[in-house]
Amino acid sequence: MARVSIILLTLWAFYPLIALADEDSPESSTTTPPAGLSSSERGLWFLLNKHYMASDLKQEEFDNLWKVWPEPLRTEAEKASKEERRRMAFSRYGLIEMPGRTLPMGFVSDGKQGWGMNCLACHGGKVAGEPIAGLPNSHFAFQTWAQDLVEYRVRFLGRKRSEFAQNLAVPLSRSNGSTNAQIFSVVLTALRDSDLVMKPFKEIHPPPLIHHDLDAPAFWNLKKKQNLYIDGYVSKSHRVIMQFVMLPTNSDERIKSWDNDFVDILAYAESVKPPRYKWPINRELSAKGEAVFNDHCSSCHGTYGQNASYPEKMIPIEEVGTDRRRLDGMPLEHRKFFEHGWISEDGKVKVVEQPTGYVAPPLDGVWASAPYFHNGSVPTLWHVLHPDQRPKVWLRSEDGYDTARVGLEVKEFVELPGEAKSADDKRKYFNTALPGKSAAGHDFPNALSEDERTALLEYLKSL
Ligand code: HEC
Ligand code: HEC
Repeated sequence: MARVSIILLTLWAFYPLIALADEDSPESSTTTPPAGLSSSERGLWFLLNKHYMASDLKQEEFDNLWKVWPEPLRTEAEKASKEERRRMAFSRYGLIEMPGRTLPMGFVSDGKQGWGMNCLACHGGKVAGEPIAGLPNSHFAFQTWAQDLVEYRVRFLGRKRSEFAQNLAVPLSRSNGSTNAQIFSVVLTALRDSDLVMKPFKEIHPPPLIHHDLDAPAFWNLKKKQNLYIDGYVSKSHRVIMQFVMLPTNSDERIKSWDNDFVDILAYAESVKPPRYKWPINRELSAKGEAVFNDHCSSCHGTYGQNASYPEKMIPIEEVGTDRRRLDGMPLEHRKFFEHGWISEDGKVKVVEQPTGYVAPPLDGVWASAPYFHNGSVPTLWHVLHPDQRPKVWLRSEDGYDTARVGLEVKEFVELPGEAKSADDKRKYFNTALPGKSAAGHDFPNALSEDERTALLEYLKSL
């Protein structure tokens, strides 16, 4: 009985991603990029135009989701113009407008009024209101999105709640702007053998699921890395990043037919350049900060400018001291999946089976990629540099940028405020008291004087 229910729960874990899909994915052969594009250009074209996951919802459903919003939002939406209502929906779900496109960044049209989710739903964001593909989407309200859609289908389309009862059994995200992405992948890979063939039900033995939300890394740092993910446990490979399209609606043949697409998608991700800081920088102060950086930070984070270098160093968890749930939450069975068979490019992919900590990331364009650390727990670079003053709970504004502290414009709280009553209100706040969300650790800046930190903050803007 216990085992059966664990398996069922696990199967339900991927269910949210597919249960919202009413149809099978359209055939991949219907979408071919125009001739004459470079590999990286094709990669972006694929991300903007090709379906790799089933359609999540119809345009008409999206236009009507406001009908299940809580008050007073619902009444405001009812009175609003169609355009204003759309803006409200983008804001509620953390969807990113892309100039010249009707659909949000990260969603692809199926040509039949259906929207399918794509990589840029998590890997395309905005900073100070400006959309940037390859910047993590630190707004995405995945859980709220899925819950509203279910609610709408039950209340307005006559669907049975029991059809969806399971699909919210596993968290998609516990705070807006981060997702339980690695656990989706733990589940998806547990369903297949090393040749990507779906296993018979009785052979599915999923590992325990330790949920943890993550803030995706910026694509522009990928080129410097040999290994992927915060613990660098697997070598960079276009097949490894296909793990997220392994939904049961995609057959093994279909996934393999996308092999070349993902060569291009990886080439695209590696071609993304960090954006430049948009406001003035005090060059004199920044030069002082560079000296501080080279003395205190570059041994882990590398050097920048001419003769840039990047050591890609794994730092033991005890030394870096940031939240360890991500490290503990990745089961050995899952890591081993990438060592064998098709996904491993027949053994070419190297796996670190037992990483001891996190890899210090490159800091190019770091001004733009707030919030900080792998769990997105720290809202500004000033807070990274002042470990004792990091907020316990914070709430960001939609498009505000804090040029003094360099990062998100936030309100700070000592605990979750009383007005955050419903679950979707609570998810708007980043609450460091929740599991996996600690903002502690990385105390290295405590060795610095206040003047040194001020100079260092100026330098970090220039990377
Ligand atoms: C639900 C959100 C989500 C979706 C969808 C998603 N990713 Fe990610 N991605 C993440 C998160 C979170 C991480 C960080 C994981 C970690 O470090 O453990 C990540 C990491 C990565 C990395 C490694 C970056 C690095 O610097 O180590 C690559 C490459 C990547 N994703 C590519 C893709 C591609 C390609 C797709 C589409 C097939 C995709 N992702 C879909 C959330 C997502
Ligand atoms: C001993 C190695 C080490 C030293 C020294 C170090 N860091 Fe880090 N740093 C790390 C690691 C590891 C992470 C990733 C932690 C995580 O995400 O949980 C990190 C993360 C960061 C981040 C967040 C990056 C992001 O994209 O989220 C910033 C910013 C940063 N460090 C700045 C600095 C600065 C500035 C200094 C110098 C005062 C410094 N670090 C010194 C290892 C180091």
